[in-house]
Amino acid sequence: MDQQQGQSQEARPAPETPGGGVVATGGRALLVYATKHGSSREIADAVATELRTAFGDVDVREAGAAPPPAGYDAVVVGGPMIMGWHRDAEKYVKQHRDQLAGVPFALFVTAAALTEDGMTDVHGVPVAKDPWLVKKPRRADKLTRKERYALPSHYLGDIFKACGPARPRTAAVFAGSLDLTTMNIFEKLFVLLIVGVTPGDGRHWDFVREWADEAAKTLSAG
Ligand SMILES: Cc1cc2nc3c(=O)[nH]c(=O)nc-3n(C[C@H](O)[C@H](O)[C@H](O)COP(=O)(O)O)c2cc1C
Repeated sequence: MDQQQGQSQEARPAPETPGGGVVATGGRALLVYATKHGSSREIADAVATELRTAFGDVDVREAGAAPPPAGYDAVVVGGPMIMGWHRDAEKYVKQHRDQLAGVPFALFVTAAALTEDGMTDVHGVPVAKDPWLVKKPRRADKLTRKERYALPSHYLGDIFKACGPARPRTAAVFAGSLDLTTMNIFEKLFVLLIVGVTPGDGRHWDFVREWADEAAKTLSAG
């Protein structure tokens, strides 16, 4: 984004259509994504499509080359769990956390394992969990190491720490896509032994669109 054009525009609540959808207000949104194998980029594109119902302009940028949040009316940052949140997504929120604290902000995580903990939020942030991804622990009173590793509070707790003073208004954990043939032996051992993932494309586009539609409303509400 051209910083000269990045004049702060007051975010306005997006008017609702009779059908409950929102009408684009003309504001500008930034969608920053990180990816290792591409599945999170496709999710980012689907999220951006929904954001366009509320914002006139949505810039989609890879985290390594994304502009700062200043001048945008809303920012969404997303990326996969790759032994922790993708380092480019984490770096972006760390680097820009003071600006992110001043703009309506949401984030999403792509993952291949998630333990159901019965909670709807992490540190007060509402978290939408892909119902096809979450798995109930075998014993709720005694989680295994893999189950503890894949808790929403583990994934998102670390991410929120990186965000510092910036708190997302909403967060989502989406099922991603995992192809063992693209991974080296260490990566395979990590995802199979530490995380306990299920290989394959688990993305559920209706769920992605539903969350993105809600996020568009939440972010455009000023
Ligand atoms: C090296 C590696 C590490 C991963 N670590 C985790 C993890 O800690 N937790 C998890 O749920 N999924 C993990 N995954 C699964 C990815 O989050 C999932 O495959 C995601 O869709 C990848 O996104 P991408 O295609 O945008 O790179 C890992 C995948 C790889 C390749």
